[in-house]
Amino acid sequence: MESIEIRKVTIVELEELQKISKLTFTETFSSDNTEENMNLYLDKTFSIEKLKTELADKNAAFYFALLDNKVIGYLKVNFESSQTEIKDENSIEIERIYVLKEFHGKKVGQLLYNKAIEIAKQKMANYVWLGVWEMNYKAIRFYQKMDLWRLINIFSS
Ligand SMILES: CC(C)(COP(=O)(O)OP(=O)(O)OC[C@H]1O[C@@H](n2cnc3c(N)ncnc32)[C@H](O)[C@@H]1OP(=O)(O)O)[C@@H](O)C(=O)NCCC(=O)NCCS
Repeated sequence: MESIEIRKVTIVELEELQKISKLTFTETFSSDNTEENMNLYLDKTFSIEKLKTELADKNAAFYFALLDNKVIGYLKVNFESSQTEIKDENSIEIERIYVLKEFHGKKVGQLLYNKAIEIAKQKMANYVWLGVWEMNYKAIRFYQKMDLWRLINIFSS
């Protein structure tokens, strides 16, 4: 595939961030949820106010994957107290990696994942962690492929 650009999301791209967040979440989970529950979740989790706060957070960062300036996926990483569970100052959380269905299997997820590892190295993090729904088998296979657990060992050695 033509070259994919991975670029940090800025506040002026708030609406694009909301759009890709809602779209990829819907593509991933709508078959497991009622429309009503999905809409409630989307409105709460990806409201403009919430995303604005997250974008302004110095302990979080969003990156877009772009193909010909079209947003086709995104990454969210959290540091320090903004991590959702483990609040270790020496760790980094990958909270979200989402790629539009149309572009799955084209190494976009891998590029976003590589970006998270690059950030972890820059910050000299001891390890990278993430949470994934136990029924999200596709994502689990992807993370296994990325060898996240082995990277934890590399970083701490
Ligand atoms: C998980 C996800 C980000 C993977 O992105 P992707 O762009 O399709 O993955 P890539 O093309 O970069 O794949 C990288 C490697 O992982 C493997 N891989 C990706 N998805 C896989 C799957 N479902 N099963 C097995 N291997 C998989 C690829 O084969 C590839 O390995 P290879 O280099 O040996 O060919 C993407 O499927 C997605 O957005 N899913 C929906 C959102 C989601 O569930 N996110 C995680 C929430 S925690």
